[in-house]
Amino acid sequence: MRIIESVKEMQEYSEALRNTEHRIAFVPTMGYLHEGHLSLMREGRSRGDCLTISIYVNPTQFGPSEDLSSYPRDFEKDRKLCESVGADVILFPPDREMYPENYQTYVDVEGVTRNLCGLSRPGHFRGVATVCAKLFNIVKPHVSFFGKKDYQQLVTIKRMVKDLNMDMEVVGLPTVREKDGLAMSSRNTYLKPEERESALSLSRSLKKAKQMYDGGERNAARIIEEVTGYIKSFPHTRIDYVQICDTDTMKDMDALKSEAVIALAVRVGKARLIDNYVFGEPLSIP
Ligand code: PAJ
Repeated sequence: MRIIESVKEMQEYSEALRNTEHRIAFVPTMGYLHEGHLSLMREGRSRGDCLTISIYVNPTQFGPSEDLSSYPRDFEKDRKLCESVGADVILFPPDREMYPENYQTYVDVEGVTRNLCGLSRPGHFRGVATVCAKLFNIVKPHVSFFGKKDYQQLVTIKRMVKDLNMDMEVVGLPTVREKDGLAMSSRNTYLKPEERESALSLSRSLKKAKQMYDGGERNAARIIEEVTGYIKSFPHTRIDYVQICDTDTMKDMDALKSEAVIALAVRVGKARLIDNYVFGEPLSIP
């Protein structure tokens, strides 16, 4: 397994692979890898003959009061995990490689980023779209893998790839959860023991939403009210949003007619957690 820090070296490596008919699978991450990341990597391994992982905590997607400096990092552990799933390359660039002096170009995906996390984290998706566009130009993948855990991110990247005619497939994969239902996240490490139980309010409330939907409820406001009340009944929780959106446009819906996703962002202590459920899909939460 190679570890590449230089953009130019990565581009030359990828170009050589492309010229020899290799299929490049790519999983972008910010590191501190867990089973959610590994599931993307395993799928990438089976669908490409070169698997590249990027580990880069992208400063442009963090707001001024967010957790950029405290974001958890453990490169040695990540390296071993990448090796264990048979990755070929880790792209591990320093900031000066990604955003050299005089950097001035950003990608703004419009409609789908103007709701949910786009409202509570201004500039976040501009940073995500920009770094992903850059990473795609550096790694030159045929196929890239993203988690549905970050649903709006997946929709944003799919939109960008389509709108900018990027010659690449984007695959979205299911959310990997802890046994008790908590969606895996690098940010779960911020949870204090007494907050861990409250963090379960997210996944459990999604189960409630599913049950209402399966029972025939199609009124978004009633589902949102139930979910909101349930999350608020747990200590240490502060709701950022509970919304039901169309999965294509990410706009709010009143009646669940087309495909809809319920998306949650909740602060539990210091951690800002997100989770979601696409109505009609399976959901395995105890
Ligand atoms: P990061 O949070 O490290 O996540 C990397 C990828 O892993 C994303 O596609 C995310 O959706 C996926 N992922 C995280 N937790 C998951 C889980 N429990 N189940 C399934 N997939 C999961 O998302 C980012 O980094 C960054 O925004 C990035 C795309 C790398 C751009 O900087």
